[in-house]
Amino acid sequence: MATFQTLPGFREFYPDDLARRNHVFRRWRQTAHTFGFSEYDAPVLEPLELYKAKSGDEIEGQLFSFTDKGGREVALRPEMTPTVCRLVGARANALKRPIKWFSIAEFYRYERMQKGRGRCFFQFNADIFGEPGPEAEIELIALLVQCLCAFGLTEQDFYVRLSDRNLWFYFLEALGFDDTRSRAILNAIDKYEKMGDDAFGAYAAAFGPLDPELKARILALLNVKSLPALEAVVASAGGDKLSARLQDWRRVLEALEAMGLARFVAVDLGVVRGLAYYTGFVFEAFDRKGELRALAGGGRYDDLVQKLGGPALPAVGFAIGDMTFSLLLEQRGLMPAFVEAPDVYCVIGGPAERLAAFGDIHALRAAGFRVDYPLKELAFGKQFKAAAESGAKLALIYGGDEVAKGVVKIRDLTQRTEVEVPRAQVAASVRDFFSGGGH
Ligand code: HAM
Repeated sequence: MATFQTLPGFREFYPDDLARRNHVFRRWRQTAHTFGFSEYDAPVLEPLELYKAKSGDEIEGQLFSFTDKGGREVALRPEMTPTVCRLVGARANALKRPIKWFSIAEFYRYERMQKGRGRCFFQFNADIFGEPGPEAEIELIALLVQCLCAFGLTEQDFYVRLSDRNLWFYFLEALGFDDTRSRAILNAIDKYEKMGDDAFGAYAAAFGPLDPELKARILALLNVKSLPALEAVVASAGGDKLSARLQDWRRVLEALEAMGLARFVAVDLGVVRGLAYYTGFVFEAFDRKGELRALAGGGRYDDLVQKLGGPALPAVGFAIGDMTFSLLLEQRGLMPAFVEAPDVYCVIGGPAERLAAFGDIHALRAAGFRVDYPLKELAFGKQFKAAAESGAKLALIYGGDEVAKGVVKIRDLTQRTEVEVPRAQVAASVRDFFSGGGH
């Protein structure tokens, strides 16, 4: 008989995998709530048109798309940004500002498979609508950093590269490039890290070879790694727009410094982002060792809500992917082994002891504790092994002697200590243990 396998790049989540995934989602969700973001959701299947010419050529070429039974051209969503723009655009006037929204959802891209890249993956998306100034970037970069720090990652593990498409456009304009040529240069910059000088090939093919002096100035900006270096390169080009833009940079960096987050952020004009809709600040998070693909990416996209039929509404946002992120947590030993372990595991003697234990088991569960026990009678040795393997903090022991005396032994499986308590006090003792930091 043929065995059926998942499609290439698709994932199955056995309970242990799903426990880890839930753990990650739970912390992202908690973190977003601490920043005052509200959660939303939307359909997985969307009109193909939503992504055409909006997300950019690369994503368009990766769409899972088909014609549905009603003859509609549809696509599995490759990202959330066009969808959330439609949602916000449709109710822009009624929504309380600032609009700070997040979601955790699955996306589909027909990509070449590699480490940390699949054809279906989850993203945590966070976006702010209606805020034209850099305050939105400050809030979002802080949220991005905290979404990673919430798991114990530090500035030694990851950093956020901050760049600016506006600054690039103003700079190229000051050097004499028109809009079309500037876009071709930005495409080259997007590929420069991977391809080196060959990245300028497409520009040369369309517009002729790039003047060596201009290229040197472009490379000077591309190699900028600090605010003073940025100020120096920008001063060499001159122009009011550029110096006004530097003010925004100072505001962002100053605020992140005040939050104690400057150590996570690197000025890096080499990032321009491949997606078509970005208009201003752009940023990406990477592991410090540079071993993995991007952890997260985002930026400002002030035109997209309007392009999708809504009102003019400035927007900034980012998405963290679950695959690279989970790899990084595993590498650093920060993915807990027991994320969904029971609180309590019951070790039970014969049939009479089981009946005695059942009352307590149900009462503890009804009180909100996670309680497990062997469904079938097992030797004590096997039950203790199961208790240890479950990751439970406590074992409740219902042996013949205990039940006859009307007591239960409570064993702390971490400290290896044991106390005997009257049956009537089991629930209170378990509650005391967990409220006293035993959790
Ligand atoms: P993106 O850079 O395409 O941006 O994706 C963000 C993150 O999603 C990536 O850094 C990566 O972690 C993850 N990701 C993307 N593609 C894959 C894949 N094939 N397999 C595994 N993980 C992947 C966006 O999607 C923008 N819509 C983000 C955004 C939100 N911009 C504004 N708001």
